Order: sequence, then structure tokens, then C-alpha cells
Amino acid sequence: MLIRSDDKDWNHKASSEITPPSAYSRRRQWLVLLASGAAGAALAGWAARDARAQMAAPARPGKLAALPSVASQLPGALTMEKLTSYQDASTYNNFYEFGTDKADPARNSGRFQTSPWSVSVEGLVKQPRTFAIEDLLKLSAQEERIYRLRCVEGWSMVIPWVGYSLSQLLRRVEPLGSAKFVEFITAADSQTMPFVGSGVLEWPYVEALRLDEAMNPLTLLSFGMYGEVLPKQNGAPVRLVVPWKYGFKSGKSIVKIRLTEQQPRTAWVKSAPQEYGFFSNVNPNVDHPRWSQATERRIGEDGLFTKKRKTLMFNGYEPQVGQMYAGMDLKKFY
Ligand code: MTE
Repeated sequence: MLIRSDDKDWNHKASSEITPPSAYSRRRQWLVLLASGAAGAALAGWAARDARAQMAAPARPGKLAALPSVASQLPGALTMEKLTSYQDASTYNNFYEFGTDKADPARNSGRFQTSPWSVSVEGLVKQPRTFAIEDLLKLSAQEERIYRLRCVEGWSMVIPWVGYSLSQLLRRVEPLGSAKFVEFITAADSQTMPFVGSGVLEWPYVEALRLDEAMNPLTLLSFGMYGEVLPKQNGAPVRLVVPWKYGFKSGKSIVKIRLTEQQPRTAWVKSAPQEYGFFSNVNPNVDHPRWSQATERRIGEDGLFTKKRKTLMFNGYEPQVGQMYAGMDLKKFY
């Protein structure tokens, strides 16, 4: 594996090298200017509104290396909704390798090593290859995409992710005609991940998509959020974000991507097949066996009288992804 320890844009920095709190909003103002030139009035209008929302967000001490990006021009990739605070997005997490409490991933991931790192892409591809994370990072231009993430447990967040479409990577390795699924295998290091080895799930945490879902441009291979590299609790150094599916489909800290002909058995399907289906598209009309999926609580909107939000079909991304499921019975293929 190729390791370049001199890559300043990549390594997690010490707190002495912190990004000033203002830098992120300055960078966003710069994006506004860029958008107004590049994509015309509509995008500029979005960006201006979004920049205002961002500037109103509470300041925070930066911790990690900046990850420069440009605002995505992909339809559906930029919601105008208010961003979840960085504090909430990085302290209210699901990452069962570090524990089952929402605070555990931030609390228990300190010893987890995210450098050196490599991701192997293998299986039914013409050009199998192992990418050092530094090379993966530079494979395509980094974009910022503001996606809603809806968790199966009934809460949601709005997060500015940084990354590029997974399809950019998959095209490089040339999927064979027989490839029908893409499996994502994540890190499972019992030395630094205290719950690996526990009976919570079968390890490693494995997720998978149909090939067309993996190739959909909205499927993001993400290296950062809020303009910085990912914190460990959010899936450093590389994770998936599949915005129209329940959050558990978005595997964190990926080490292997495998193209297969057979539908892979994923961690949640193995653990509770009656509760979690392979597709797991966000669907307000199909309840979880133990609770409704019709509404959600937006993290950060937790006032006593705050009404829950209505959950949208495909988490609001139906125009971009609905066609992939045309004719399918979504109650059966949940
Ligand atoms: N990836 C791994 N490796 N392990 C996990 O436990 N949890 C999933 C997903 N990816 C999980 C994972 C679940 S249930 C959710 S809701 C999202 O990560 C949460 O992502 P976030 O903490 O960045 O919001």
C-alpha cells in the first residue's frame, strides 16, 4: 500500500493547527461567488440563502484538516434547509463498533487509526485495484452536497458532506456485465473498536446496494463534512452517503468494495431480517414492524412543542431515484 505521510490536506491535524471558526463560513461565501458565476441566478440564490443560514449557525472551534470543495451542481444535491449543527452531527451518532449509545462513537473512537488507510475494489471488475486513501481522495473533484440523512429510528439531520459520486470510482475499475450488486465492507479492528467482538452485530459491518443504485450520481463517497475531513465518529477516512435510504445503508470507514452477482447479506439483514430489508428506501408508507415511519424528528428542533416533520418518500429524492424502482412492490421489497 502507498502511504504519503506528507499529505497536508489529508492527515488529521493537531489542535494547534485548527481551522478558525470563521474560515468555514468565509469559504462558503466564496462558494456563493463561484456559484453566481458558474451556475447562474438559481444556484446563486440558493447559495446566498444557504450562506446566510450558515453564518447564523453557532461558531465552534475547528479541529480537523480543511477539505476544499466546490458546491455540487447535481440536481437534488443542495437542499435549502437549515444545517444541523456540527456539534449535533458529530456527537449524536450510530457507529456500533464504538458502542450503542449515541454519544459512544465520539467518546470511544480516539484510538481508532484512520491513517494509513487503503480501500480495495475487487470482485466482478476488469481492473481490480487497491487505492491508498490519498489517491482515492484525488480521483475526482471534491464536491459539497447538502443531504438529508434519515435514520430508521425516526430522526434526521441535514449535513454538508464533501466527496464525489461513487460512480466515478466504479467506472475506473470497469464493472463486468455479470456484476449486479456492490458490497461495502467496513473496518473491524477489535484492538481499537471496543464493540467489535460483541454480539451487537456480526462484524465487520457490511452494507450493499444494487449496481444501478451504486451508480446513481446521488450516491456519495464521502471524505468530509462541514468543509473538513470526516471526524472518526462520522466514518473517517471514507464512508458512503446514500440520501434516499435509511442511514444504516451508509457504511462508515470502508476498507473494501466488492462487486458481486448475488445479493450480499448485509449486517442488519443478518441480525434482524424481519425488521430490515435489503433496499431500506425511506418510505413513510411502510412501517418498521415496531414503529411508524410516517414522521421524523429533526435533530436540533427538540423543543417541547416542536411538531414532528412528515417523512418524504425516498427522503425527498424521488425525482432523482424513483425511476429505479418503477414497477416494484415497495412493501414487499422494503
Ligand atoms: N457504519 C458502520 N461501519 N457501523 C455502524 O454502526 N451505523 C449506520 C451508518 N453507518 C453504522 C455505519 C447507521 S445506523 C446510521 S443512522 C449512520 O451510519 C449514521 O451516520 P452519522 O452518525 O454520521 O449520522
